[in-house]
Amino acid sequence: MRLVQVWLLLSFLLLQTSCLVKGKGKVTVGEPAASSQDAVPILDVDFPPQNFKDLDLFADGEIGKPRLRTTAYSVRAPLWSDGSEKQRFVWLPKGETIRFDAGRSLFIFPTGTMLVKHFAAPEASGKGIETRVMRMGGSGKWTFATYQWMEDGRTELRDKVAYTNGYRIPSHAECEQCHGGEPVLGLVPSQVSDTLAALAAGGIMSKDDAETAAKVQARVDPADEKHPLDLRARSYLTLHCGTCHRPGGPMAMMLLDEVNLNPELLVKGGYVSPGRLETSRIWTKFTAKKYRMPPVSLKEDPLGTALLRTWIEAMPKSEVTP
Ligand code: HEC
Ligand code: HEC
Repeated sequence: MRLVQVWLLLSFLLLQTSCLVKGKGKVTVGEPAASSQDAVPILDVDFPPQNFKDLDLFADGEIGKPRLRTTAYSVRAPLWSDGSEKQRFVWLPKGETIRFDAGRSLFIFPTGTMLVKHFAAPEASGKGIETRVMRMGGSGKWTFATYQWMEDGRTELRDKVAYTNGYRIPSHAECEQCHGGEPVLGLVPSQVSDTLAALAAGGIMSKDDAETAAKVQARVDPADEKHPLDLRARSYLTLHCGTCHRPGGPMAMMLLDEVNLNPELLVKGGYVSPGRLETSRIWTKFTAKKYRMPPVSLKEDPLGTALLRTWIEAMPKSEVTP
């Protein structure tokens, strides 16, 4: 009887670990093949190289073949990117780990860290569109780069806005706009707290740091109807608008960051007219045919449209100041 219990427990644990660390789990650890960077790490001056392949994060530069220490992670609430499918990876130099700064509730990344976000067409083809990379330099600053995938499988480094198959690749200046506050926006405790144990098991952070970081308040997933409408709408706005509309940001006059996201201020500023979509500037800008917000996407996000509509319409009209 006891043996059966032990066996059941063991197979359950085995199943758990294999789901988390390998296969279709949220965190995957790369193939056990060393990258050339182990011998000669990429230097600040060599980043970004002309070809994505030369970063040597993936065998043959193929996203499906992550190298050892190229670890996949996912975020709780993703940014809408015109319906493209996204994959995210973190690569750390040999022997380094991500540390958790409890005071600021942030991760600290060692020099040489590379964060990768790959965009692919949503159709079955899964064809690569763009791969974005940010690298932590010796000066403690991140450098941004993006590669467009060409028809023949090559990549080209992009600096200016580029259009490809109904998709818009942002400019370098736009990377800096959105990532100009706290630069890391997705690999933050509030977005990854439920996968931290697996990240620690993969060796990229200590178990202790993972446990402490997991206590940070999780971001509300705007798509998760378990949460109140108000919190979901605010989380959506912070994530999709607050990166630019933040104190010190390129559009600081309309503050939509976590602290200032205050419905009263939004109403006073005319950004939200309770119960009235047509006079809510957040809504009219979000659904405008020309110069719509956020400026970096071409297609309206169905989730955002439904959420903002319901949120504004549900606010009692009586609160409108004349
Ligand atoms: C509209 C704002 C916006 C622009 C423009 C933008 N990003 Fe991001 N980026 C985000 C947000 C928000 C996340 C986190 C959410 C997610 O991953 O879906 C993110 C995540 C990332 C990540 C994964 C690491 C992280 O921060 O979590 C990388 C790498 C990245 N961006 C690189 C770039 C590069 C390079 C550019 C320019 C070519 C760029 N981004 C332009 C908003 C933006
Ligand atoms: C990449 C940076 C960026 C992001 C992300 C962004 N904005 Fe903007 N926003 C700007 C800039 C720059 C302007 C000023 C130029 C313009 O009006 O087109 C602006 C202007 C506006 C204005 C007009 C300002 C006013 O006082 O009337 C509104 C409203 C607005 N944005 C709403 C939004 C909403 C809602 C989102 C998210 C769905 C969003 N923005 C996301 C950069 C951004």
